[in-house]
This record gives sequence, C-alpha cells and structure tokens, in this order.
Amino acid sequence: MTEFLTPLLAALTATFLAVPLVFFIATRASLVVYSMAGQPGNRHIYWIYRSPLLIWLFDRQFISSLILLFQYHRLVRLVLGPACADKQGKRILQVSCVFGDFTRRLAACYHRIGQVFVFDIMASEVRHASRKLAAHRVREGCAFFQGDAAAMPFPAGTFDYVVNFFLFHELPGAMKDRVFAECLRVLKPGGVFVYGEFHKPESSLATLWGNLYFWIFEPYAREMWTWYPAAHLDPAIWRVERRTVLGGYFQVVRLERMGETLPMPAL
Ligand SMILES: C[S@@+](CC[C@H](N)C(=O)[O-])C[C@H]1O[C@@H](n2cnc3c(N)ncnc32)[C@H](O)[C@@H]1O
Repeated sequence: MTEFLTPLLAALTATFLAVPLVFFIATRASLVVYSMAGQPGNRHIYWIYRSPLLIWLFDRQFISSLILLFQYHRLVRLVLGPACADKQGKRILQVSCVFGDFTRRLAACYHRIGQVFVFDIMASEVRHASRKLAAHRVREGCAFFQGDAAAMPFPAGTFDYVVNFFLFHELPGAMKDRVFAECLRVLKPGGVFVYGEFHKPESSLATLWGNLYFWIFEPYAREMWTWYPAAHLDPAIWRVERRTVLGGYFQVVRLERMGETLPMPAL
C-alpha cells in the first residue's frame, strides 16, 4: 500500500506546487522581462497571452473558474445579460477576448441575429478565439480586430453594446482610463457598456486573499479596489448601475448613454 501511496502523494505535491509556479512565470515574471525589453504599448501583456503553447496549456475552463472563485458563469450571465436580452439587429463590441470562451457564448447568443466585433491587442489571441468560434460553428457574423483598445479604429457612436470581461485589472494605471474612455466613445446614444471586474471585498479574510493573489500574480489588479471612473461621469448623460457579487469580491458595472452629445469623462 505505501509503495503505491508514496509516489502518488509525491506526484500530487509536485502538481500542487508546479501549477502556481508555471502560472507565476506566465504572468508576473513575464511582466518583469517585458518591463525591460517590451514595446511601450504592450509591456503589460503576460506570456500566457502571447505564446500559442501557453495559450493551449492555460485555455482550461477550470483555471478561469478557479481565478474567479467559481463565479465564472454567474459573472458571464451578468455581463452578457442586457446585450443578449436585446440582440435583434444589434451591433456589439467585445473589448479583449483572451481564449475566446466569453466570445463563444456571446457569438452563440448573437448568431444570425446581430453583429459581433471582437477586439484584442494580441494577434495570437485573436486567431485562437476565431478558431474556437469556427469549431463551435458560431464564427459567422463575427469580425475580429487586432489593436490597442486605448485607441480603437471605430468611429464614435458605432455600437449598441460594448462588453468587457475582466480586462481592466490587467492594465497599468493610465491605460485603464484610456480604454474606459474608448469604450464610452464608441457607444451609440442609448447604447450600453457593461464590464465585470474585481472589487474590494467586504470581509477581511477575502481582502487578505485578494492582496496575496494580486501581489503574487497580478500587480495591477489591486487598483480595481479604488478605480471607479464612472463616478466622474455626468449623470445627465450616463445612467450607471453597479452590482457586487460574492461579498463584494467582484463587480459588474452597467453604463447607459442617454444623451445625444458625445460625452467624454473628465478623468
Ligand atoms: C484577462 S484577459 C481578459 C478576459 C477576456 N475579456 C475574456 O473574454 O475572458 C486579458 C486579454 O486582454 C488583452 N489585452 C490586454 N491589453 C489590451 C489592450 N490594451 N487592448 C486590447 N486588448 C488587450 C490580452 O491580449 C488578453 O487577451
């Protein structure tokens, strides 16, 4: 019995230690390397999004579920809900697609009914997400773009909906503001922007966990605890609703553009 148990325990311990180590190298450690050698606009992009091998390795639903403390499906429903309830002939933009799982759900919901635009800074992610949609037969009607969401090539007032699922926490300070302003700029009057993100938890235990996780893996994420640009918007033009999930650990923010004039936030 011990002959069997010892290697099993050793293998489990090695896996338990190896997974966070590989994740650390693919996220935080890559930032250190790119801060010295990367292009100014994409130094914040982890290896996990650059390398096809790492994309293949980390494109697992259980990893996203674990990072989002098993709230993945609930958060997807909350972010996608308004857009999927009103999709007939609508044009929606997803800002950043990562491995294409949220995109696949969005594309399935809009399939043959509306137009989906997907925008991401990494060509590797755009290709991966596009292939995933094709494999699920929901690629038709979706357009993919590669570029920096801080300066998108779409004219002002292009989209009925803009959605963004856990992008802001990976952007360094000022880039958060620029991407937020772009998401608002491309919305039509009457359009709605919804994003899901981390938020400062209510309990001290969850705050401790968040601090530890962000400190080790995601250095820009803690800014989400105080970053709330919607507070600076003109309430005559923007209707804002913010909902928190899991004791405040996550937030879903919905911004509806009511005015005709082009409203830019004073950030
Ligand atoms: C944590 S993921 C975002 C999650 C994703 N929205 C989803 O559907 O699950 C990070 C993604 O954001 C992209 N990204 C990071 N900075 C960006 C930028 N400035 N403009 C566009 N995409 C960006 C990365 O390439 C990567 O695919």
